[in-house]
Amino acid sequence: MFLTVFFLLIALCTQGGNGKEGEEAQRPGHVSVVIVGGTGDLAKKYLWQGFFQLYVNQVSSGNTFSFYGGGQSPTEKATPVLFEILKAVSCSKDVSQERCALLKDQFLRLAQYRQLKSLEDYQDLAKHIEQQLQEEGMTEAGRLFYLSVPAFAYADITEKINSSCRPKSGAWLRVVLEKPFGHDYGSAQVLASQLRSSLTEEEMYRIDHYLGKQVVSKILPFRIQNKKILDPIWNKHHIERVEIVLKETLDVKGRIAFYDQYGVIRDVLQNHLTEVMTLLTMRLPKNVSRSEEVLGNKLQILSSMLPLGKNQAVIGQYQTYKAEVQQELNKTKDHISHTPTFAAVLAQIDDAQYEGMPILLISGKMLDERVGYARILFKNDIFCVQNHNNVHCKPKQIIFYFGHGSLQYPAILVSKNLFKPALVDSEWKEVTEHKDVNVFGLPISDFYIQTPMEQKEAYAELISHIFFGQKNSFISTENLLASWDLWTPLLSSLASTFPRIYPGGADNADVLDIHLKGKDISYNNEVVIISTDHLGGTSTNGFQVMQGKFRSSEMVSAWAEQLVDKLAADIQEAAEAAIYEGGVFHLALSGGSTPLALFHRLANHHFTFPWRNTHVWMVDERCVLPTELESNFRSLHDHLLQHVRIPYYNIHPMPVHLNQRLCVEEDGGALMYEKQLIKLVNSSSFHFVLLGVGYDGHTASLFPGGKADELGDSLVALTESPSKPHQRMSLTFNVINRARKVALLVMGKGKHELITQLSRVKDNPDKWPVTGVKPTNGNLVWYIDYDALLG
Ligand code: BG6
Repeated sequence: MFLTVFFLLIALCTQGGNGKEGEEAQRPGHVSVVIVGGTGDLAKKYLWQGFFQLYVNQVSSGNTFSFYGGGQSPTEKATPVLFEILKAVSCSKDVSQERCALLKDQFLRLAQYRQLKSLEDYQDLAKHIEQQLQEEGMTEAGRLFYLSVPAFAYADITEKINSSCRPKSGAWLRVVLEKPFGHDYGSAQVLASQLRSSLTEEEMYRIDHYLGKQVVSKILPFRIQNKKILDPIWNKHHIERVEIVLKETLDVKGRIAFYDQYGVIRDVLQNHLTEVMTLLTMRLPKNVSRSEEVLGNKLQILSSMLPLGKNQAVIGQYQTYKAEVQQELNKTKDHISHTPTFAAVLAQIDDAQYEGMPILLISGKMLDERVGYARILFKNDIFCVQNHNNVHCKPKQIIFYFGHGSLQYPAILVSKNLFKPALVDSEWKEVTEHKDVNVFGLPISDFYIQTPMEQKEAYAELISHIFFGQKNSFISTENLLASWDLWTPLLSSLASTFPRIYPGGADNADVLDIHLKGKDISYNNEVVIISTDHLGGTSTNGFQVMQGKFRSSEMVSAWAEQLVDKLAADIQEAAEAAIYEGGVFHLALSGGSTPLALFHRLANHHFTFPWRNTHVWMVDERCVLPTELESNFRSLHDHLLQHVRIPYYNIHPMPVHLNQRLCVEEDGGALMYEKQLIKLVNSSSFHFVLLGVGYDGHTASLFPGGKADELGDSLVALTESPSKPHQRMSLTFNVINRARKVALLVMGKGKHELITQLSRVKDNPDKWPVTGVKPTNGNLVWYIDYDALLG
């Protein structure tokens, strides 16, 4: 029967491609297509239409086809359902009605439903395929299984395919998988290794339908064709920021059982938007059809991303989501979900080309409009004194417009004041007649616009790529894991964060507006106003802070963020005063995790800090190599020093590693540091010393029972810590108490108990070393956050 259909169609069909340029040559023959989940939603909406399209294009290419819709239901029940779906497929405009009717008829004849539940079902299917091949005397080209089923079924189905449905050698096997590919790095790895036990990497086709969108698939060709112009400007010096945005107006009713476990970051950002980001920033391949090179360059970008943490994301949830969850998941009225339905993430690439260039990834449900785009906004260094409508005063941008929105069609737009791009594909055209619409507030006549002559569905495009074995538009295992590696830490850090509630639609107004602050992102308007009334607090200089006394010294208290802001401002004030007075500022900093927030604040917000005249010293150090994560210097370097313009000769790490060994008394490291500070720091009196307090009351690396008073006159000493690494080098009280200003920073609920005890105990430096901090002529200020103060 297949042969008859084939020859009949050859005679009738004069059109139909033989595959496009760059597509891999493959042996023509018979192809069996099996959609597992063939009567499901996705198959109904896109897949059958995509395979019909493939059939139409390939019918005169020397290939023959059979199509199987597979599912759990018995054949008698599901066959009519499948045929209802198949009857609805349609032809593109260029196919005549007569030919279309014939093609549809043949397509229906080549299709059948099969129950695919047990191993026997798969074995029967394989037998059936082989029998057909034999009867018709056909050579087999390959078997394509499209798994349109929940991911938990993948391992089982691929095992069955592997054990019973492999074609004979010479023919290919391709298995297509739909996201979700795991929930986080760990689960993606488990799934990947399950799949690997049944399929080779070559056989797996992980779909991301964004890669089939016409505009997305032209990002690389566009960059390549306009390489000469883009090369000099495609970098941090010229690009203001990149925005990759998918806004949707719908809610997630009907799919909450899935969505509530995933949320917008896993549903859209980890895959679709990350893929677009890599296409925009990856090194250009020499040949876009060479999958290995394309996937390799994508991987390189993914591995150069700066880690994403809580400060790089804001999340939201539309107001009615909670009720929808309660209803669909049968939860009580007090059930709340933390699942975000909106997220904005600030990503950055840590390499010389893009370092510091903001990349915003944004997506949300129930927003004001449905639109998707990637926008590259360039810096404009022209200043217009009078006429701001002049073309050279306008923003310079390239917009990859995926569709919908004000334009309503997919397009690539380039500002006319930037350059005139070459046409990206012979099947694209320039738009010269403009409707009266605006894009980002600008009339579209401000742009060169190109659009595909015919709009094509992403799935149909990708199905054709699968048929031709073009793996560059699919997700390799390595790239998938690299993407989860980027997103998983952020997802974990957000797990207990409450998303901001937004009303939905136009009512969102500016509730979700975002503010970029260096490497951090936050909502622009703080809805939550911190009240310090009940604490008798005052608001000074915009800081919500409370001033008071602790252990008879001055105390500043606030919520963690405000406290760190205040401390950073106080350090800068001290620096400016010292430099005004003597031209130099000597600052000694502690290690550990408490000061990290302060380091970030200084690095990202204090651009006027006088680093050039600042000397940074260390309060203490662990006896480990400076390359180790435990090293205080490494942490100081990574979180602060590498981000600011401080001369190298102003940085004074403690010499814990001498003569290729760590902290050995006779190597004299402590003495060396002491001499250095006597030489450089006037009267060995630091202008500012930052200290923390450990749970056992230690400060610097001066521990309880450490007999700090027996250290004589030394300014620097080797000490012992009860916890690992045991050996330390530390400033002694002799030098700490000579400082002009000492700040004791204490943060977090975990320190509440300690603070309560410290508020009661008398000075006893051997038991509570921190009580030995008593600057002789200087000033001690405790910076304690509300969590530590109030518990
Ligand atoms: C899917 C997500 O992958 O992409 C959906 O699961 C989302 O939540 C959809 O709506 C968006 O795709 P498109 O093609 O409509 O932009």
